[in-house]
Amino acid sequence: MRKPFVAGNWKMNTDGRSSIELAEGIASGSVDAAGQSVTVAVCPPFVYLQAVAKAVGTSNVAVGAQDMYFEPNGAFTGEISAAMLKDIGCVYCICGHSERRHVIGETDELINKKVAAAVAGGLLPILCVGELLAEREASQTDAVVTRQLKEGLAGLNSEKLSAVTIAYEPVWAIGTGVTATPQQAQEVHELIRNLLTGMYDDQSARETRILYGGSAKPGNAAELMGRPDIDGLLVGGASLKVDDFLAIIQAAV
Ligand code: 13P
Repeated sequence: MRKPFVAGNWKMNTDGRSSIELAEGIASGSVDAAGQSVTVAVCPPFVYLQAVAKAVGTSNVAVGAQDMYFEPNGAFTGEISAAMLKDIGCVYCICGHSERRHVIGETDELINKKVAAAVAGGLLPILCVGELLAEREASQTDAVVTRQLKEGLAGLNSEKLSAVTIAYEPVWAIGTGVTATPQQAQEVHELIRNLLTGMYDDQSARETRILYGGSAKPGNAAELMGRPDIDGLLVGGASLKVDDFLAIIQAAV
């Protein structure tokens, strides 16, 4: 049985003070909202990771990074390694978010190196996949998601896959207020699970958590997570408000 997973991606938001307030509010409310029955994580900007890790303390809220670099150390100005993230208490790392693919220009090959390095470094990567609006309109959703999944996981065996969470985030639904319908999301989640069965085996596919992301909010969270292959949510905007994020966690129970 897959445990539901709700993760907040704060993106380039908050400041020193608000990141701690948000983390404390989520940490103190999430036990009441979900007890131990939901995996909860927050992914603040790099510079607030350490303070947020301290603020969530020993609560059931884990901390994740929004990105990392695949090399262990060296002359890579501006980059952060898996070991550094692990060192300050990070558990998860988002890899291949659509804003990194489409705004920063990350390729499937680079993202694959990050996923592999995250696993090797003891982090739990959240590999994001998802099509652009134009790709959906051109009926390329399946092809795009298939490519991103296969290339993102290239070289990882089933043991390594067990460290990975997949997030399906259709780019047209991110930050737009337009959520994929539960049916649209379920179709792609089912595709991803079937692909995992082919790439690995039944058990690996059954055990891998697949999150949905894209304008998830308290009002649609339960319906989305009610679908058989939607195991949780990767939440952007609504993760910046304590009450909204706690309501989404509650909807996962
Ligand atoms: P929104 O929830 O703001 O649409 O963002 C989703 C997302 O990109 C999470 O990674």
